[in-house]
This record gives sequence, C-alpha cells and structure tokens, in this order.
Amino acid sequence: MSGRGARSLGSTAFPIPFTHTRQTQPAPQRQDRSNVLQIRNLTKIYEDGTVALHDISFEVKDGEFLVIIGLSGSGKSTLLRCINRLIEPTSGQVIWDDVDITAANQGELRRIRRQIGMIFQHFNLVKRLPVLTNVLTGRLGYVSTWRSILGRWPREDRERAFRNLELVGIAEKAYNRADELSGGQQQRVGIARALMQEPRLLLADEPVASLDPATSHSVMKYIEQLNREMGVTVLCSLHFLSLARTYATRIIALKAGEIVFDGDPLDIDDRRFKEIYGEEAVEVEIR
Ligand SMILES: Nc1ncnc2c1ncn2[C@@H]1O[C@H](COP(=O)(O)OP(=O)(O)O)[C@@H](O)[C@H]1O
Ligand SMILES: [Mg+2]
Repeated sequence: MSGRGARSLGSTAFPIPFTHTRQTQPAPQRQDRSNVLQIRNLTKIYEDGTVALHDISFEVKDGEFLVIIGLSGSGKSTLLRCINRLIEPTSGQVIWDDVDITAANQGELRRIRRQIGMIFQHFNLVKRLPVLTNVLTGRLGYVSTWRSILGRWPREDRERAFRNLELVGIAEKAYNRADELSGGQQQRVGIARALMQEPRLLLADEPVASLDPATSHSVMKYIEQLNREMGVTVLCSLHFLSLARTYATRIIALKAGEIVFDGDPLDIDDRRFKEIYGEEAVEVEIR
C-alpha cells in the first residue's frame, strides 16, 4: 500500500499509510487472537525499598485495548515502563511476541523498542523545536545518529511525518514550535511521533491526564482508532474509570502494586469500584 492520500483518522475509508503486512489483511476476529504480550511474575522494588509491583501476571491479546486503572501510586507507570524497560524490573519476565524483553541485550532491546510506541502524560516534546522535527524523532530507532544530528532525515521519513500529522489532524502546524500548540494538539504530536515507529504495541501512560475533558475524548478517540483501524495493541493507563469504560476492551485495576480486577469494563460495579478506589471514593463522569 503506498499510503498516499492519507486522510484524517475517523474518515470512513481509512487508507493505512504503513507497510505492515498485517494491515493488508482483514482485521482478525477479536476472539481468536493470540497472546502477544505476557507479563509473568513481574516485581519492581525501588532502591528505597518501595514495592511498586508485586508479582504481577497477565497476558494481552493482539488487538486488545487494555486500560490500567488505579489510584495514584498504585503502580501504573511502573508497570508500563517495565514493559519496554525504561524501568528495569527487579524480577519476572515480559515476553513480547515470544521474545523475552527482560533478557534482551541492548541491541535486541533497541530492535524490540521499535515495535513499541509510547506516549506520555506531559507529552515529552522538545518545546523549542518544530512539530515536524518532534515527529521525526520517533524515527530515531531507525535513522543513523549522524543523519539525525545533522537534521538530514530521509525524504520518506519526512513524508511519513506529514502523513502522521495529517492523521491526527494538525499537518498545518508542522512548522510551528511545539510549545505554540495547545495541550491537546501537543498530545496529538506525541501520537504522530509514536506512529513514526509503525508500532505494533502502544504504551500510553495517562495520556489525557493533563487535558480538559473534551480534549481528553478527542485524544482518546485517535488512540482508539489506531487500535481499531490499524490493529495496534494498546496498553493505556487512565485515572478516571468513566474514560476507561468508554475506551477499554478490558480493564486491569492495580492497587498497591497488585492486580485487584482483570476483566470486562461492564463488570466493574459499585462494590468493585470501592475495592479499587477505596470506600470514600465517588465516581465522576468525564463527558
Ligand atoms: N523512582 C522511584 N523511587 C522510589 N519509589 C518510586 C519511584 N517511582 C515510583 N515510586 C513509587 O512506586 C509506587 C508506584 O508508583 P507509580 O508507578 O508512579 O504509580 P502510578 O503511576 O499508579 O501513580 C509509588 O509508591 C511511588 O511512590
Ligand atoms: Mg503514573
């Protein structure tokens, strides 16, 4: 597929601008998808003795939109960052596509990380650089260092960066400095940057926590469409249960580093909600 003429995400016919062979095939049915990610007995104890994750195990199917919920400090960021080893787990295994990420050497890790995109609560853009350059840095896993230092990005990469900005609806901002954009627009740049890797897995750590409710939905909808239309498996942490219910195909709830719920969003009733968030908590709606 050439990918020319990419339109915004959300258009009915969605021309996929990527070269994955998976995407040229019809989307597989959710029920017979295989496990692409296995988390086995994962434990993280920080140097000060804090047990952030305690013996966590679960599996993720190809194409799932898995939302991780839990109070602040429950271990969501630690879990997401242990998956691509931005944080080194203390023990346990992370198996991605039959490859043990936890046992990978630096070269292998670099290759694995190309398949795993990440977006962050505070966007992590280089504020004074143009949007386009920020998006292109998503390509760093592929481009040789000297080329990127000199700003000599291959033409295909520049074209891809523009297509990804079109997908998230902000191509006209390509030459603006990143800090001239609103929060929602900056997170869309974050998504476009992650897309440069053509990820098969997207890790999103509270991607909308810095945004207002309406903008939150607009950003979540882009992530949802990557999941539905490109088949990217998503692991996304969210603070609010109502957002999780809207977008998740499955929810895992963490409490003090342990899994206290794993299942269908619809099965989180009042009792379960109080188990996860505490007796005092009340659910708020994000519209
Ligand atoms: N670098 C660190 N050193 C020590 N403790 C940490 C560090 N990062 C996080 N923690 C602790 O680990 C626990 C889980 O934190 P985190 O994964 O950030 O939770 P969440 O993302 O759900 O808010 C918390 O108790 C937090 O204080
Ligand atoms: Mg966090």
